[in-house]
Amino acid sequence: MNITKMSGPVYRMGVNIHEEGYLFEGLWPIPDGVSINSYLVQGDKTAVIDLTQETAGLVESLSRQIEMTGTALEDLDYVIVNHMEPDHSGMLKDFVSKNKKARFICSEKAVPLLQQFCSVPEDRIDSVKDGDTLDLGQGQVLTFFMVPNVHWPETMVTWLDSEKTLFACDAFGSYGKVEDEIFDDQLSDERAAFYEKEALRYYANIVASFSMFVDKAIAKLAGLDIKIIAPSHGIVWRKNPAKIIEHYQRYASYAKGPAEKEVCLVWASMYGNTEKAVSPLIRGLKEEGVEVNLFRVPQDDLGHILAAAWKSAGLIFAMPTYEYKMFPPMATVVDDLMIKKVKNKKVLRVGSFGWVGGAEKDFRTRTEKAGWDIMDSVEFQGCPTEEDLKNVENSARELAKQIKEFVG
Ligand code: FEO
Repeated sequence: MNITKMSGPVYRMGVNIHEEGYLFEGLWPIPDGVSINSYLVQGDKTAVIDLTQETAGLVESLSRQIEMTGTALEDLDYVIVNHMEPDHSGMLKDFVSKNKKARFICSEKAVPLLQQFCSVPEDRIDSVKDGDTLDLGQGQVLTFFMVPNVHWPETMVTWLDSEKTLFACDAFGSYGKVEDEIFDDQLSDERAAFYEKEALRYYANIVASFSMFVDKAIAKLAGLDIKIIAPSHGIVWRKNPAKIIEHYQRYASYAKGPAEKEVCLVWASMYGNTEKAVSPLIRGLKEEGVEVNLFRVPQDDLGHILAAAWKSAGLIFAMPTYEYKMFPPMATVVDDLMIKKVKNKKVLRVGSFGWVGGAEKDFRTRTEKAGWDIMDSVEFQGCPTEEDLKNVENSARELAKQIKEFVG
């Protein structure tokens, strides 16, 4: 991978993870990979901002890229640790063994993690607070701002005023590997749409639970005259950095109020009875002009479902009762939506049962703290009758009307 001289004294470096079957955070599929970006700023002293994870090949690749900037790994003066999650800090163990002089700059909360996760000696760590600066010489001054919980409690961002560049760590990131096109202004419309879609999926998977903190971070940084946003994942935003900030504000707003005029419809079926309800559901929604994001479990993955659920004002769950409870893969989806704080939705549940029900009670119990506005469910024993299917379609239509009113 090549390094890119961004502007003035700043280099962008990076590695891609795009192994088949790799799960980001051990959980989220990334069929199009993900980049882990690092940056290097040169003054009289040289600082590297974030590293990469401790994975064979990645450490070596980033080490080579650092050397390509003209500074040997052993000669780096500072490592700015914006965030201690191991995708950015795992390489530190290797780094500390090779570089005996660099000082490590991080938030106060990160100090014990640097010692515990990466064996960085305490006497080489300098903790910083909001607004603290580090002067690299030649007019290059780094300023640090704490952005707790975007994405871990110790997270901070780094501002280089000379280049009006924000090194934003996880904030404003996206999935998708990055190769020759580093900047937003190099992308075709199709590739730009890809990264925007992957930014939403990244947000829903990684950051969504902390939306309140995203709002606070954006408010805190509002006074900066940002020309370039350089995140730790995905492309660098320099053509229109306001665009990704606006996207993040919109994604964060979905935690508090109506999302988009869409429904995330997740269905599961054991023997085809609940499946018969899917077409009437789609028909009812589409006739009212509400878009449908359709998923089946366990076939479709949680990460994509979560992204669609986050951006949709409405949710429909269609699943049978299974041993007096919800069909287990659907229970997993519902529980994950609870963990990720998917709130303020209009919701409908439909499904089949055999001897007795149970899914309904299980669903209501699991979602009682979600703050969802849940309609009366439509349940049927075994195969749905024509009347059952009419009820299903009518309920979908009613849900669509509620969504349109909700979204406005
Ligand atoms: Fe990219 Fe929260 O680490």
